[in-house]
Amino acid sequence: MKKTVYLSDQVRERCPGLNDWIALRIGEHQLCSLTAAKVFSGAEPALVIVGYEQGRPWLEDWVVPYPLIIFWARSGQVLPPELMDHPRFHGRINEADATDQQLLVIKSALDRIRDQQHIAEMMDDILEVGRALASEKNLDRLFDLILDHAQKLLNADGASIYTRDKNGKLYFRLWRNASTDTKAEAQKTLVGDKSIAGYVAQTGEPVLLDDAYDIPESAPYTFNPASDRSINYHTRSMLTLPMRNKAGDVVGVLQLINRKREPDARLATAGDCDAFVVSFGEPDIRIAQALAGQAGSALENSILYSDIENLFEGFIKASVQAIEARDPTTAGHSFRVAEFTDRLARAVDRSDSRIYRDIRFDREELREIRFASLLHDFGKVGVRENVLVKSHKLYPFEMEVLKQRFLLARTSFERESMSRIIGLYERAEHPDQVAEEREQIEQLLKQEGQRLDRFLEVVLHANEPAVSDTLASDELQEVAKYRFRNVDGRTTRLLDDFEFACLALAKGSLNEEERLEIESHVTHTFAFLSLIPWTRNLSKLPHIAYGHHEKLDGTGYPLGLSGDEIPIQTRMMTISDIYDALTASDRPYKKSLSPERALDILAAEAGAGKVDGDLFRVFVDSGAHRLIDSDR
Ligand SMILES: [Fe+2]
Ligand SMILES: [Fe+2]
Repeated sequence: MKKTVYLSDQVRERCPGLNDWIALRIGEHQLCSLTAAKVFSGAEPALVIVGYEQGRPWLEDWVVPYPLIIFWARSGQVLPPELMDHPRFHGRINEADATDQQLLVIKSALDRIRDQQHIAEMMDDILEVGRALASEKNLDRLFDLILDHAQKLLNADGASIYTRDKNGKLYFRLWRNASTDTKAEAQKTLVGDKSIAGYVAQTGEPVLLDDAYDIPESAPYTFNPASDRSINYHTRSMLTLPMRNKAGDVVGVLQLINRKREPDARLATAGDCDAFVVSFGEPDIRIAQALAGQAGSALENSILYSDIENLFEGFIKASVQAIEARDPTTAGHSFRVAEFTDRLARAVDRSDSRIYRDIRFDREELREIRFASLLHDFGKVGVRENVLVKSHKLYPFEMEVLKQRFLLARTSFERESMSRIIGLYERAEHPDQVAEEREQIEQLLKQEGQRLDRFLEVVLHANEPAVSDTLASDELQEVAKYRFRNVDGRTTRLLDDFEFACLALAKGSLNEEERLEIESHVTHTFAFLSLIPWTRNLSKLPHIAYGHHEKLDGTGYPLGLSGDEIPIQTRMMTISDIYDALTASDRPYKKSLSPERALDILAAEAGAGKVDGDLFRVFVDSGAHRLIDSDR
């Protein structure tokens, strides 16, 4: 930043050499007349050299905005004490002083401005860092940011960060080193108390070392050279200090390694250290402490945030598992749909194709998609369990009633046949006379029994859910027409209208009422998810989940949305949902399909304009549909 020196006309006239000297010797300074100084805003560093009489009113009125002021005074002129104490007052130049003497005063003022400027810039940097750290919720990225700023602010070649858990255990998390190309990954490795970082975490005291290889034997910590060896490096100066939260507890440790004279110097050997490395000084500790203070608060916030995130995700998963436990045959469905959709979203995010090059999902949006996928069928909580697990067209108890009616029909017919035979004997004079008729009745009884057996088989067959559209068989129609005389003499039907309607279902195992009940799960999902006060970055979640049974051509439910009315997140989820429903393990009412067959069906759905064909291609091409066995 340019510094400006304002000279009053009086000073210019009386000391022309000063004017030239400032212009010549302090290149980065701008020289202006005092007329310009009068409009000076005070926002930038400046030095004003002004005659005492001329400048005094400004200082006395306390309105002088300039950082520093030097008064040009006549010999013997007395300046008032309150003026000497003024923070902006730097000194005086006496008319009678030698030029060297005068210049010394000016130079010291300029040095002071430079130092103030340096501190101001540093504080600006630290505030900026504080703002950046406070807005970063992702722990790994926060580690990166802290190390990045620490290296830059303190000219450190290397930096490491450690975190401390609630039980006081210290973990090494990430390191950085400008002199090595080795890329460090975030980790979580337990660190011993005897290490330098361990000591700092335990005591809360910073440790400043001029040479990490020259630690006194009596020191309560040791330096482990193994880390140097592993990256072929040499550590010399080191500053290790605690990061504290707002309550003052140590939540981590920041370690800075090898402060460099020249920021761009690359260090590998002890010789490089001799040439470029200097010790961390007292001002460095103050700057590092300011940074560590910001980092400590940010770290605690970030850990808290990620704890809350984990807690919330854990709660979602536990809830989903509880819902899926109501229907064991669909166990794991929501988790797999979340996994498929997440992979598909990442593939779309990576894609540079014409269609998807403008579509990107950040971490929060991916989380929104994952949660929406996990919760998409949550509304099944509002569907009766027997409907949810219904595996045949008739419930077992309905089938039991039906079988009893078959038994009743058979028994009634037997009873009737027996009465007829008894009647024959009562009317006959000799048993031989009725043999033929009795045989006919018995034959009829046998035929009727066989007919009922066949009917029962037809019913049992019809009770199986149909995979594809089928019409009710003629035989079932025949069963429906069958009547028998009940024990009370009334004519009774073998199948009532409800049973026939169920058994005649063209597809699946659900009647209309039950199908609507199952479909209502989407509305229940939306109603349930709308009750949750989602954070701003998860606010679209209920709508993403709401549309997972909508179809692009408007034939889906519950709203019959079409095309762009269905968000892309939902369209991705729909593909995953259908794919998993088709390939999931056998269910009592549905055989699982091979991945190839399932993809064929999805391709046909895409061809018919029901699911998004472009997304389906990404789903296949990216391999998003392939799950490892343990995911199943
Ligand atoms: Fe669903
Ligand atoms: Fe589903």
